[in-house]
Amino acid sequence: EDAEDRVPRPPVVTVMGHVDHGKTRLLDTIRKAKVGAGEAGGITQHIGAYQVEVEHEDQPRALTFIDTPGHEAFTAMRARGADVTDIAILVVAADDGVMPQTIEALNHAQAANVPIVVAVNKIDKPDANPEKIRQQLTEYNLIAEEYGGETMFVDVSARENVNIDALLEAVLLTADAALELSAVEDKDARGVSIEANLDKGRGPVATVLVQQGTLHVGDAIVCGTGHGRVRAMLDENGETVTEAGPSRPVQVLGLTSVPGAGDSFLVAQDERTARQIAEKREAAKRAASLSKVRKRISLEDIN
Ligand code: GTP
Ligand code: NA
Ligand code: MG
Repeated sequence: EDAEDRVPRPPVVTVMGHVDHGKTRLLDTIRKAKVGAGEAGGITQHIGAYQVEVEHEDQPRALTFIDTPGHEAFTAMRARGADVTDIAILVVAADDGVMPQTIEALNHAQAANVPIVVAVNKIDKPDANPEKIRQQLTEYNLIAEEYGGETMFVDVSARENVNIDALLEAVLLTADAALELSAVEDKDARGVSIEANLDKGRGPVATVLVQQGTLHVGDAIVCGTGHGRVRAMLDENGETVTEAGPSRPVQVLGLTSVPGAGDSFLVAQDERTARQIAEKREAAKRAASLSKVRKRISLEDIN
């Protein structure tokens, strides 16, 4: 890869935090859509991904957001979330304070060397104590700028739409200070599947994040152990797009099976090659689970 082939790309921002601290609501407010409204039990069952454009120092800037579910069962997915992330927004409810999954999320981010911006949420609540959040988080090496540290804390209310612009500003300032984000645009796409489901009418639908290259309609792809040809792509507004460059999340139609969250995807030369790679991945996966079973059996023999 030549250095001059690289182009700037938008930061990928993962919203992390304890269950019910307001991750989905915050993203809803940011994109002014009601993603969380129809969710069963108010718990996010999946990871959503979308891109928004904001003004920053009189320039239009794109930001890619990824939602992570707060339920304990989704720890593994959150760990994967940290891998695709450039910046983490750690959401902490100002009334509830630092909780186990707050710590778990910040551990993931710190282990992956991902800069953190803290969104102290629900400041509209009468028992909100944003100062306490700052104090609690010093224990975890997240020291607010106003305490002499380097982490930006922004007090927000996702519900009342308070300080959201300041939060986005903090994200871009942190990204620009800490990261040099670029990617090669002009090559076959690679990336990860963020979420996927089987749609009655459309078949497998996968939301993928392109990390390198540009994905085109018509490309032969391997995604997880599935494969196919990109039949259509949709952006976060359901509009069809013909290509998707670095840091762009898109819904992909045309896969033969539903990939798992965090599965990687790549573009192959043609559909036959894509199928062969997918079969190799499938065989490797089977071999890995077989050896796990063997290990378990031999351990049982010993005991
Ligand atoms: P999980 O995905 O289940 O972990 O939850 P989450 O972190 O995505 O929280 P969610 O956005 O679902 O919000 C949880 C509850 O808090 C909902 O009832 C929201 O309406 C409420 N909530 C979110 N932000 C605010 C806020 O700024 N103020 C107040 N008062 N309530 C909020
Ligand atoms: Na919730
Ligand atoms: Mg949620």
